[in-house]
Amino acid sequence: MSTRDLIARDTAHLIHPLHSTVAQQGARVWVKGEGALLTDADGHEYIDGLAGLWNVLAGHGRRELAEAARAQCETLAYASGYTGSSNERAIELAEHLAGLTYSSINRFFFTSGGGEATESSIKMARAYWKLRGRADKTKVISRIEGYHGVTLAAMSATGLSAYWPLFEPRVPGFVHIPSPYPYRYDAPPGVSQGIAAANELEQAILREGADTVAMFLAEPVQGAGGVIVPQDDYFSRIREICDQYDVLLVADEVITAFGRTGTLFALDHWHIEPDIVQFAKAITSGYIPFGGIGISDTIASTLDDDGRAWMHAHTYSAHPVGCAVAIRNLRIIEDEDLPGQCADKGTRLLASLRTALGDHPHVGDIRGKGLMCAVELVADRSTKESFPAGDKVGPRVLQETARLGLFSRIKADTYVLAPPAVITDDQLDRTVEILSDAIRTVLG
Ligand SMILES: Cc1ncc(COP(=O)(O)O)c(C=O)c1O
Repeated sequence: MSTRDLIARDTAHLIHPLHSTVAQQGARVWVKGEGALLTDADGHEYIDGLAGLWNVLAGHGRRELAEAARAQCETLAYASGYTGSSNERAIELAEHLAGLTYSSINRFFFTSGGGEATESSIKMARAYWKLRGRADKTKVISRIEGYHGVTLAAMSATGLSAYWPLFEPRVPGFVHIPSPYPYRYDAPPGVSQGIAAANELEQAILREGADTVAMFLAEPVQGAGGVIVPQDDYFSRIREICDQYDVLLVADEVITAFGRTGTLFALDHWHIEPDIVQFAKAITSGYIPFGGIGISDTIASTLDDDGRAWMHAHTYSAHPVGCAVAIRNLRIIEDEDLPGQCADKGTRLLASLRTALGDHPHVGDIRGKGLMCAVELVADRSTKESFPAGDKVGPRVLQETARLGLFSRIKADTYVLAPPAVITDDQLDRTVEILSDAIRTVLG
């Protein structure tokens, strides 16, 4: 059946994430994936420039993962993960993660995805402070441009305001500070950009009152906000501030965990550890919905010692099939050194983007960390002024890249790239070629 016919049926009965019936008219209907390539219902092939939604790290068509899911379905497809039950795969996965994640993080709660991971870390942080007799520490500070999912509390933590209007009021007690956006953050004289941006956290804590703040939530490298890579001095100052004011540092590694930025976990780049880490996406390379949080030994022992129940739960927490796929996928990540591949291929991608587009008068910034890159288009390079939204520069570039065989996403006029770690060098070169052709077609 052709894409046209499928879309007619689609719009009759489906509501999509970020639903827009008008935009859905130009949708592709995907029928197959292999490595870094996707095929649509009309038989056209595309480079999967965003590895699905940043998640298909190991690439499409991995039979090992299908086999792991099949074997677990046959043995035990489902059993409750609620207290009073457990399953072998969940035990095995948690044990394995304890060896892989930050050294102070050794206990895990599993979810079905990233938004649930955000909800879980907020509820873990609030519970932690209550159990320690500091019940007023409930507020969540996060960042403008940050993305943490769209369930109501996660949406309130998300700092991309386009996600709010139809669903307000937001949950109270959520505060946003600016991102350490190297291309756009204005630091006062005499202070490095990274330190100044981190000090925004201290100012917010002091404004709100340290006794009311539970946690600071941050993606080590911001993804949906347009691949914002922090300065090297940012996170160590953040850790210092969190320690000084008794604020938990929660790393939202839903995109960055398991290798995307070139290290297994992204705060390793800056040699600091969070109190809670959130993960999802690449833990199963997207083959099955899965996510979770890891908590520090201090938080875990507070929970253990108190003995009161943490009344937070999902039917699909610690799903045996999700755990089995995650275990097998982690083996691929380690055996094939996907973090190393992301580091090497990311360096190649960034260098090629700079060669191809560095001199273009409307390319304001080319940035990235590991295999997570972005090209930000601007009306005026000298002032960094953005194009008027009505010009739809980003959407037109996006449409042109899709026409040429590259499928990804934009944040306004920033084109983001995060292909599967298994992408070939030829496919990487073709990615750059298509993006620069598309930019030249739209902007000259
Ligand atoms: C950093 C981050 N956190 C949380 C989420 C939400 O995850 P999910 O869409 O699985 O709910 C995302 C999704 O893109 C994300 O990028």
